Amino acid sequence: MMRAMATDLPIRFDGVTIASRTVTLLDRVTLQIEAGAPTVFIGPNGSGKTTLLRTAMGLLVPTRGRITCGGVEKSPPIHRAFVFQRPAMLRRTVAGNLRYALRAARIAPAGREKRIEELLALVGLDGFEKRPARRLSGGEQQRLALARALARDPVVLFLDEPTASLDPASTKAIEDVIRAIAASGVKIVMSTHDLGEARRLAGEIILLHRGRIIERAAATEFLNSPKTEEARRFVAGELLV
Ligand SMILES: Nc1ncnc2c1ncn2[C@@H]1O[C@H](COP(=O)(O)OP(=O)(O)OP(=O)(O)O)[C@@H](O)[C@H]1O
Ligand SMILES: [Mg+2]
Repeated sequence: MMRAMATDLPIRFDGVTIASRTVTLLDRVTLQIEAGAPTVFIGPNGSGKTTLLRTAMGLLVPTRGRITCGGVEKSPPIHRAFVFQRPAMLRRTVAGNLRYALRAARIAPAGREKRIEELLALVGLDGFEKRPARRLSGGEQQRLALARALARDPVVLFLDEPTASLDPASTKAIEDVIRAIAASGVKIVMSTHDLGEARRLAGEIILLHRGRIIERAAATEFLNSPKTEEARRFVAGELLV
């Protein structure tokens, strides 16, 4: 896969707060996301995982603080793509959904059909071209959403709970695709509730709680010797509230 220089990395948050009039969603978050193995955000419901991913994508503007991607502030998300937890499909065929994404990514028409085949093969949806996208199962829609995000040939791919509500077989299929994407050099930045998933995929793990970063470490270190009380409880499967 040809790719431009990894222009959007590192992604730096410098004292980033996201607040509405009444609530603080992210509270003075400072962090740097670098190229390499997947960065996985974990934390209980409402801890700010989705907010943090959306902010890094450029979908939310900080109330305070500063974000740079590859040293550039307000960098347009040309090299970044986002898969939402409940992806919305167009009322078209599977191929039609990808064709739309490729057109949006300004891929020349001549290359589109071949690329559609490649993308479907990559996510294990070969032969699904003519199916109506909205009739796919949840797991199949997640895979199509991944293919659609990859149509943009991103440097950074954000995945918000990519396997939530999928059964073990679908989860494994999606995780295998994520591993393959990561191995091809795409930076994966994702969230999950599932500690097992974090263990299987993460290079580093970041625990969020109430909009703050509680602990960040290489995955094995985080899981084997958590430093904070919150991380210790989370790893032990206790409820963080
Ligand atoms: N636009 C908004 N206005 C007010 N509050 C919001 C807004 N968006 C999110 N929130 C609140 O911010 C907090 C963080 O939400 P966020 O969706 O980032 O959490 P999360 O970690 O992704 O949770 P989950 O595991 O349930 O997906 C929640 O309490 C949520 O209700
Ligand atoms: Mg969320």
